[in-house]
Amino acid sequence: MTDTAVLTNPLREGMRIRKTPAPCAMVIFGASGDLTARKLIPALYYLHCERLLPPGFSVIGCAKTPYSNEKFREAMADAVKKFSEKATVDEPSLTSFIQSLYYLTDDFGDVKAYTQLDELLNKLDSERGTNGNRLFYLATPPSSFPVIVSHLGAVGLAQPKEPGKSWTRVVIEKPFGHDLESARELTATVGSVFKEEQVYRIDHYLGKETVQNLLVFRFANGIFEPIWNRRYIDHVEITVAEELGVEGRGRYYEEAGLLRDMVQNHVMSVLSLVAMESPATFDAVEVRDEKAKVMRAIRPIDFDHLDDFVVRGQYADGWVKGQKVPGYCEEANVASNSSTETFAALKLSIDNWRWADVPFYLRSGKRLAKRVSEIVVQFRRVPHMVFGSKTENLVEPNVLAMRIQPNEGIAINFNAKFPAPTMEIRPVKMEFRYAESFGGEPPSAYETLLLDCMLGDQTLFTREDAVELAWQLLSPLLDRWREDGAKGLQYYESGSWGPAASDALLERDKRRWHRL
Ligand SMILES: NC(=O)c1ccc[n+]([C@@H]2O[C@H](COP(=O)([O-])OP(=O)(O)OC[C@H]3O[C@@H](n4cnc5c(N)ncnc54)[C@H](OP(=O)(O)O)[C@@H]3O)[C@@H](O)[C@H]2O)c1
Repeated sequence: MTDTAVLTNPLREGMRIRKTPAPCAMVIFGASGDLTARKLIPALYYLHCERLLPPGFSVIGCAKTPYSNEKFREAMADAVKKFSEKATVDEPSLTSFIQSLYYLTDDFGDVKAYTQLDELLNKLDSERGTNGNRLFYLATPPSSFPVIVSHLGAVGLAQPKEPGKSWTRVVIEKPFGHDLESARELTATVGSVFKEEQVYRIDHYLGKETVQNLLVFRFANGIFEPIWNRRYIDHVEITVAEELGVEGRGRYYEEAGLLRDMVQNHVMSVLSLVAMESPATFDAVEVRDEKAKVMRAIRPIDFDHLDDFVVRGQYADGWVKGQKVPGYCEEANVASNSSTETFAALKLSIDNWRWADVPFYLRSGKRLAKRVSEIVVQFRRVPHMVFGSKTENLVEPNVLAMRIQPNEGIAINFNAKFPAPTMEIRPVKMEFRYAESFGGEPPSAYETLLLDCMLGDQTLFTREDAVELAWQLLSPLLDRWREDGAKGLQYYESGSWGPAASDALLERDKRRWHRL
């Protein structure tokens, strides 16, 4: 295949993406759903515009809704226009892109539908030159994952069509399991049909530029890694905050809750990238080995002193952007006495030489003051203040803040002399912003990750051991919360930064959350 795709996005220049993948067909199970319309199809459209999709690339959408090819194409063109995060949609490009879309109406439980799918894939191989390469994307409710995987296995679609010459891969959306036991069951089902090198467990957070940049920042610069340890770092904060509430997804949220929805996957993935040791190379096996190692070193939660380590919250009514918003229990399809958490804060320790005694404070929640995801690394205070005791309290510790969204970038706070005849010290900020430095919008996480699946690069996907390790840590907490019901649940006003207990978690350690 060609290695010389024309790179139109300046952000792609000089980056590792220099190839277009081999011709292939992508099958999206759940093609009439929200994820397909909101993320997958717009991402594929932009890859098409950047000429990063292979020649003959084709998509087969599968779902229950009875669409013809034409209706599906129209619906997906509308989706691109509605959900595009970029400034312009080019009509001729969109028209040519949607010609690559096909649709099969099916019920995932019906094995006959997979035979039809096999026939259509073979037809596309000969008519569009997709060469037997297949990417199955499970954009369905998690309850459908096992049945789809089993049926793909049963009709022989899980194996490469021509071993050694073509490939078959499967992308599995979050959540991967509901708890440790169900995650293990799903791993067993998937593992009975696919080999691990065929499986791409997607966590779209890992496709975000700033998250990937975390590795570049740490391992492509000589000045940060030497101080990235307990000698210099006081603590680390990871915040993933949303302004939105459950937005009509009350039924899903009642089953999931914040810990499953955000912490088990996104927050834990970010934590492992912040804390992992340097891999020898930026290679899927090595990066994922290091991530797993650090996950294994996280100290289990101390249930005898739970309040010292964990806060569980739920939003009450309040004001967001000048609008009065209801409390969680008043949302549609939510039980009026629900104890489902919409906020969690955790204090974790990593028991290894690098991180001994450095707390990692994690928090995530809905209906918080701001939509922002940020990693904050706070360094230790200077050991001795030479400017006199009066300045001591004015001197802030250095802080490195990595903004994952919005306004992706990195800022470092340090102290400077305020211009005056007296010695006055003020904190100032040195800032890097993606948009300003590179002059273009970063590719969406799904663009990066879809391309990686087609290229066979698993580096940014979660391996089964990391999934299991995250569940091992958090499943006992979910069990405990289930037993406790509403006991210990902290209510917080919508539009605030969460319950007071979250501030108290840090105050006990004489720290406070960095202002975002
Ligand atoms: N939406 C997001 O932004 C988002 C973000 C991250 C991850 N995810 C994950 O992505 C997955 C899909 O989420 P979603 O929001 O797109 O869900 P959704 O809107 O409910 O879509 C589900 C899709 O599955 C199809 N489906 C369900 N059961 C079926 C069956 N038995 N036979 C045939 N089709 C069936 C539905 O088809 P019909 O409607 O035609 O019946 C629909 O196309 C979930 O695992 C979710 O956790 C979603």
